Amino acid sequence: MSRAKMTVTKIRACKGQSKLAVATAYDATMARLLDEGGVDILMVGDSLGMVVQGRDSTLSVTLRDMIYHCGCVARVRPSAHVVCDLPFMSYQVSAEQALVAAGRLVKEGNAEAVKLEGGREVAESVRRIVAAGIPVMGHVGLTPQSIHQLGGFKIQGKTTSDAERLLADVEALAQAGAYAIVIEGVPSDVAELLTLRSPVPTIGIGAGPATDGQVLVSYDFLGMYRTLSPRFVRRYRQLGDEVVESTKQYVSDVRAGVFPGPEHSFTMNEGEDLSSLYGDAHS
Ligand code: KIV
Repeated sequence: MSRAKMTVTKIRACKGQSKLAVATAYDATMARLLDEGGVDILMVGDSLGMVVQGRDSTLSVTLRDMIYHCGCVARVRPSAHVVCDLPFMSYQVSAEQALVAAGRLVKEGNAEAVKLEGGREVAESVRRIVAAGIPVMGHVGLTPQSIHQLGGFKIQGKTTSDAERLLADVEALAQAGAYAIVIEGVPSDVAELLTLRSPVPTIGIGAGPATDGQVLVSYDFLGMYRTLSPRFVRRYRQLGDEVVESTKQYVSDVRAGVFPGPEHSFTMNEGEDLSSLYGDAHS
């Protein structure tokens, strides 16, 4: 049975009431499975640069890439809310540039909301995008589009002054109209303080248990992306191992001539209905 559609209004109402479960998705098949698994939000993250495109960072991902992958996810019409990342350099130049890029994610990628990284410096862009009717999710702390500035994937907000800066960023984003804010890679106590002070839900990744929700890269918690092993990830399954094992069995069956067997083959004289080779299409 399909669930009621998750909306920005419902997400805002979760603040202090119920925890939000968020997972990244980049294609239709995974989006269907994660939606069936009950996530509240499907995040088309620019992490696809690393997970899908095999790059070392998110920096090379283009707006066209994001539109393409968001379209793949949105096409399955999930019950989960679909938010899509604005990639590096698609919004940093000006509020106008940010608004145009956000508009393309909605018009061409069918995004229901956009996410951008940064605090006070992007508040004006957030205001402009929200004023145009597009919901915006913020993202503070470890912002992967700034890894060169940050010196790598490093924990943020470790000193009192850094934590105060993060607090000012969260307040500015909420004031500008952000409906939720990702807090990435900050100590748990700092994330707790930011969550207490934020009027909108905070969604943590590598930020401890006190945030209003959690987000993980789906390929991480399923054990499929094994290039990096972030300390904060729980691997619920090792699907990477299962893929390798299944592939080995398939290769061996093909080479031994035992696949396809009789149950996967067709003959003309069995009186079988051969009209549909692929079975019923997924609705
Ligand atoms: O790009 C991404 O997937 C993200 C989340 C992991 C927060 O920004």
